[in-house]
Amino acid sequence: MGALVVFESMYGNTWQIAEAVAEGVSSRLPAEIVEVASAPREITDQVQLLVVGAPTHALGLSREATRADAAERSGRAVISAGVGVREWLQSLSIPRGLAVAAFDTHVDKRWLPGSAAVVARRQLRRLGGKPIVSSESFYVGGMEGPLVPGEVERAREWGARLAEHLATADA
Ligand SMILES: Cc1cc2nc3c(=O)[nH]c(=O)nc-3n(C[C@H](O)[C@H](O)[C@H](O)COP(=O)(O)O)c2cc1C
Repeated sequence: MGALVVFESMYGNTWQIAEAVAEGVSSRLPAEIVEVASAPREITDQVQLLVVGAPTHALGLSREATRADAAERSGRAVISAGVGVREWLQSLSIPRGLAVAAFDTHVDKRWLPGSAAVVARRQLRRLGGKPIVSSESFYVGGMEGPLVPGEVERAREWGARLAEHLATADA
């Protein structure tokens, strides 16, 4: 029994946040982290908490075209080159009432609307999940990063808070 953290990342920033979230969660329960292409399509009841993270692309979750754009912009291979969280969620099955949470990375222009996490959280709820917190954004300084100072620590704290919420809900 434990938490599963599934992430998508082009340049590594969301991956770094996912690692920090998993670290925070693991203060209370074992946490496994997996890149979306290797994530299971069926979540068993061995998973107590599912956390999903993705970069914000074009105001929401990435699509094939935005992932191709990400690769072209940087001129190097991206991490999540194949399937993204959007496609994974489309074929995902989860136990009804599973505790879920979603986060994204977003450029540090907080007035800019759109959040991959809001879309992912809504989709997780549609699948029968029970969001235990609001969606959360972590900020990058530019399109390819880096993360704004302090965001890794904030992600670690957010992860710890998720595990605490879960423990309180279970009590
Ligand atoms: C094609 C593309 C579209 C993007 N659109 C948005 C956007 O609408 N809003 C935003 O805040 N950031 C946007 N970004 C910036 C990403 O959020 C940023 O690249 C991401 O947080 C970096 O995380 P990663 O290293 O895990 O890919 C976009 C980036 C790319 C490549």
